[in-house]
Amino acid sequence: MYISETVQDAINDQIHHEIYSAYLYLAMSAHFEAQSFPGFARWTRMQYQEEMVHAMKLFDYLNERGGRVVLKAIEQPPVEWGTPLEIFQEILSHEQKVTALIYKLYEVALAEKDYGTRVMLHWFIEEQVEEEDNAGGMVDRLSLVGDQKSALLQFDHVAGMRGGA
Ligand code: FEO
Repeated sequence: MYISETVQDAINDQIHHEIYSAYLYLAMSAHFEAQSFPGFARWTRMQYQEEMVHAMKLFDYLNERGGRVVLKAIEQPPVEWGTPLEIFQEILSHEQKVTALIYKLYEVALAEKDYGTRVMLHWFIEEQVEEEDNAGGMVDRLSLVGDQKSALLQFDHVAGMRGGA
């Protein structure tokens, strides 16, 4: 099956963004482990797994279309992070950026009249609504917790019960 070089390059870029997202969440998970927040560490680790699922969906799709996957170097994510609230605010803004990237990819598919890619991306568009909602919910609850240490520890426990990938 034919896929244009423009769409192929754009999908390869998105594979890179998804793997970087995975790396970012894993760095956050390492931070939470070091800070003794096992629940947030698990939450971000599960998100790492979800990001790899996103990357592999694109990887498989590009292969299915007869395209060529090209993996790029992954930048080092930050080592030091702020408070749990600051980290989840960072997650929300990261996911908003990913949503914008997915929309850009969708526009490339439209311009190239690549309807198969367009349909494949519907899953990602819906997924981004969920990703932003999950991150936003964490920011809202952490804002309510504020500086209360015992409430923060309790919420860490609840966040660790997250289901998913
Ligand atoms: Fe793959 Fe969190 O977007």
